[in-house]
Amino acid sequence: MSKLWGARFEKKSDPLADQFTFSISYDHRLAKYDVAGSIAHAQMLGKQGIIGKSDASKIITGLKKIFLQIEAGKFKYDPKAEDIHTDIQNRLKALIGKPADKLHTARSRNDQVVLDMKLYCWDQTADLTEAVTHLQKAILGFADKNKDVIIPAYTHLQAAQVVLLAHHMLAYVEMLERDKGRLFDCAKRTDSMPLGSCALSGTSLKTDRAYLAKILGFSKVAANSMDAVSDRDFIVELISACAMISTHLSRVAEDLILWATREFDLVDIDSSFCTGSSIMPHKKNPDVLELVRGSSAQVLGHLTQIHVLLKGLPLTYNRDLQLDKPALFDSIDTTKRMLLVLAGIFATMKVNKDSAAQQIADESFFTVDVMDYLVNKGVSSRDAHDILGRMVRDCLDRGKTISSLGEKELKQYSPALGADVKKLFNPQMSVKIKSSLGSTNPVLVARQLNYWSKKLHA
Ligand code: ARG
Repeated sequence: MSKLWGARFEKKSDPLADQFTFSISYDHRLAKYDVAGSIAHAQMLGKQGIIGKSDASKIITGLKKIFLQIEAGKFKYDPKAEDIHTDIQNRLKALIGKPADKLHTARSRNDQVVLDMKLYCWDQTADLTEAVTHLQKAILGFADKNKDVIIPAYTHLQAAQVVLLAHHMLAYVEMLERDKGRLFDCAKRTDSMPLGSCALSGTSLKTDRAYLAKILGFSKVAANSMDAVSDRDFIVELISACAMISTHLSRVAEDLILWATREFDLVDIDSSFCTGSSIMPHKKNPDVLELVRGSSAQVLGHLTQIHVLLKGLPLTYNRDLQLDKPALFDSIDTTKRMLLVLAGIFATMKVNKDSAAQQIADESFFTVDVMDYLVNKGVSSRDAHDILGRMVRDCLDRGKTISSLGEKELKQYSPALGADVKKLFNPQMSVKIKSSLGSTNPVLVARQLNYWSKKLHA
């Protein structure tokens, strides 16, 4: 199939060069957006009288046919076309003949490809946002099913304090909500219409870019033609938003991988989301979660790639920019797959309630609660810390528990310590007495569950 250039060349391009430069094998994904952009462009050219009304309407009719083919899933890209822009142009020519030659008036592939990518990014942002919400709902469902479960929480991967499992789950929901904010933000900055910048300097033809922006759904026209054809910030930002999501998902996966070990024994990942070992018959491995963790490396790699791709490029268009596509497409695909599979895991995962209950019986979880008790009795937090530190050390040395100390023994550590302190050595009490906003207090957590359930299902 013919290229969009060639008259200047005295010989054909080498097949190796073709193979190396063609992007059709991946940019065929942009078909729908390329056609939509071309329909808008033809409308504008016709309205402005740059091409005849009858030519414009033939072009639009032809493009609409191609659009319907794409929508029906009947579009097969031509591997012999250099890129999707060439493919669509050739198809249009085959459909309507000579008038097709007027479509590429006052346009270059340089502004065309940026438009296609922006429209694609907008669509994908909506898809990704929906996929994040889907996962948030699955996490919320899991939290809701296990509302009363209390688990150990960690700092430095050392058992620290007890929290409601739902509180831990709501932390994930918050992280993911910020991710949606990032997606929304980059969609806002994608909102400047590049078409009409042509190769780099604009055009002498009397185009109407404001009209193009309006019919393509942009709120403004890109103000500088050189910036418009060089700008790939919106791609960097979308990959970056994907990278942040995938980093979050990797952390979630890591929590669950740990929790599913015999050592932590907090959850049971459903067998349908686990794999076995070829040699050890007893194994039930969390490979799906490990691949979620591993996939984040891939998306982070793409983020590095796109930065490196751009950082040495002189203005304006350079063919290097073509390679933004595999990085972007795979970032989006990978992130979506991670979101989907994690949602499946949360929908089917069970909590090992007995094991959790056993683990949180350890009284070292409650030392901070006893400190708060002392502070309420007028002891400084520094002194309270020392008192508890000595109690913990003595008990470890003597193989005793703090809760087994008699009132006299308690008073030796501090006159402020009374027998009533013993009621604090209880996980239910520990979460109940937390009262600060954002804490694991059961009433506050229930309120948050309710808030998110309403918000996500709205
Ligand atoms: N396939 C190219 C890309 O993805 C389209 C733009 C080509 N422009 C050019 N001047 N060669 O960037």
